[in-house]
Amino acid sequence: MEPQLAGMRVDYRRDELDVGDLAATWHEQLVRWLDDAAEAGVVEPNAMVLATTDDDGMPDSRTVLCKDVDERGIVFYTNYTSQKSRQLRTTRHASVTFPFYALQRQVSLRGKVEKVSVEESRAYWVTRPRGSQLGAWASAQSTPVRDRAALDAALAAVERRFADTAEVPLPPHWGGWRIVPDRVEFWQGRTNRMHDRLRFVQNGLDRTWEVHRLAP
Ligand SMILES: Cc1cc2nc3c(=O)[nH]c(=O)nc-3n(C[C@H](O)[C@H](O)[C@H](O)COP(=O)(O)O)c2cc1C
Repeated sequence: MEPQLAGMRVDYRRDELDVGDLAATWHEQLVRWLDDAAEAGVVEPNAMVLATTDDDGMPDSRTVLCKDVDERGIVFYTNYTSQKSRQLRTTRHASVTFPFYALQRQVSLRGKVEKVSVEESRAYWVTRPRGSQLGAWASAQSTPVRDRAALDAALAAVERRFADTAEVPLPPHWGGWRIVPDRVEFWQGRTNRMHDRLRFVQNGLDRTWEVHRLAP
């Protein structure tokens, strides 16, 4: 049976968001909503959709996991030779959306990107399970692979290579990107599609932040 897409809709009545409800900074507000999502049992609350563009302005998007949030920005980890990393290196900008659908919320931000330091990447790398570390060595992310067997063989080769190595080293082609936002929007669904949209916007001159309400 075909899904009845046109008839699918939810009236949002779960919560509201006014300027007085916001934390003092965008990152404290984001942490607050991440905490709410985790507490509410949202699946993968730190999952976010990362949008990038290539040299011609063609967009791509995919999910990555947010691994750090502070006043400097938000961090995710990936392969530095992947399609997304190639695009980030040329365009230096990205946009991200956290889809907290179960809470009738989303957070969208955009800004410049920078690589995190090797020390910071290593500090996160050592917390990853050994299996994920080996996978990062085995996969030339975003490149074509002949078949599943070729992938499994690549992992087996890496397992042999590091069989006698207690600590799998940080690959040179793997690490974090930090998105340094100049705009962060908190969206709370409201009834009759009259949603609350509050946007932190950074002034390019003195780096101070203002909050604007946008029409839904
Ligand atoms: C829930 C979820 C979490 C993911 N987290 C990451 C991540 O943190 N880092 C990553 O490189 N890919 C992650 N992926 C895979 C990416 O969506 C994507 O397939 C991969 O990074 C290659 O993207 P690219 O070819 O555009 O570079 C995740 C996928 C899902 C569905």
